[in-house]
Amino acid sequence: MSSGWSPGKISEKEIADGEAYHRALYHSGDINQPTKWHQESSYPLIKEAMDNISEGSLVVDYGTGTGGSAIELLKKLDEKGVTIDLVLIDPLVSWFAKAREILGNREGVHFELSIRKNESGQISFRRLEEMLDGRQADVIISSSTLHLVPPKAMDDLAIQFANSLSDEGVLIWDSGDLESDFRPKNSTLLHEPYRAVREILRNNSQRVDILSKLSNEEADKSEKRLDRIFPLPFSVEVIIDSMKEAGFTSQISEKVVEFENDDAERFVLVPRLAEIAAPLVVGEQRDKEIRESLKVALKRISDDGKGTDSSYRSHWIYGTHRLGNF
Ligand SMILES: C[S@@+](CC[C@H](N)C(=O)[O-])C[C@H]1O[C@@H](n2cnc3c(N)ncnc32)[C@H](O)[C@@H]1O
Repeated sequence: MSSGWSPGKISEKEIADGEAYHRALYHSGDINQPTKWHQESSYPLIKEAMDNISEGSLVVDYGTGTGGSAIELLKKLDEKGVTIDLVLIDPLVSWFAKAREILGNREGVHFELSIRKNESGQISFRRLEEMLDGRQADVIISSSTLHLVPPKAMDDLAIQFANSLSDEGVLIWDSGDLESDFRPKNSTLLHEPYRAVREILRNNSQRVDILSKLSNEEADKSEKRLDRIFPLPFSVEVIIDSMKEAGFTSQISEKVVEFENDDAERFVLVPRLAEIAAPLVVGEQRDKEIRESLKVALKRISDDGKGTDSSYRSHWIYGTHRLGNF
């Protein structure tokens, strides 16, 4: 049995959200049937992690979500018969609850919800040092998460990683949504189609009509929230600089991963992500608007030479960082 956080009673909506994201990673929700993009993008990160894990290692997965990266790591560890202590960390109850449902019966797996609410209802992130309760990890992985961390928070997060690793420890991350000067011209960023959907829908007449009935303040707040779902990408240099400041040495590599159009549709229709169409009312009509906008966005990407009729090419960056030299 695992330990730590469990979701308690969550709403039908939250359950559906976690289930939908899980199904965006695994066909029919079957962990033995990962989507091509999930398997191919996570493969280099899992391989690097496996090269640094030994029996009994303490491993942290920072940004577990519904468990996509942890599941792939545990599959490989099971294959090799290696057992570890695995600490899973995420701020989003709906997705993290799905990870708890899938991995909650495993020995050696511990869950930490990474946000807390104070008495006046304000939400803040908990520090990694606190969540590890003074323990230092041998390996920290962070898959498809660092591009969601605001650049101004990166220096401090790098310090938390440095404080939470043993002297020989290693931090391994991947991201498909970082700018770099080495991205091949025939590829794009992971979230580019979904940012394009947001832009297409920004001027959708029904949406504009509903927004116009809100106060300026309410409309502005709602629009800002939507812009944070697929934030504008920043440069990989932001992460590399923060890691350097925190005392890490870095190795960076890259890979282009085909993201199939059907998978892109399943991805953007995950309830939390489909919120980019708010305040359109949740339902068939809203989903239709999203699907149509996505078709337009994917066609533009393909016409631009960054994809084909059936997929787009996402550019992934992989970072490995040590406190000593390589
Ligand atoms: C795309 S998911 C990746 C989940 C998992 N690692 C995988 O590979 O499937 C990114 C996760 O990062 C979490 N996240 C978002 N913003 C974050 C932040 N500022 N700090 C830490 N985690 C964050 C989200 O809750 C989400 O579960």
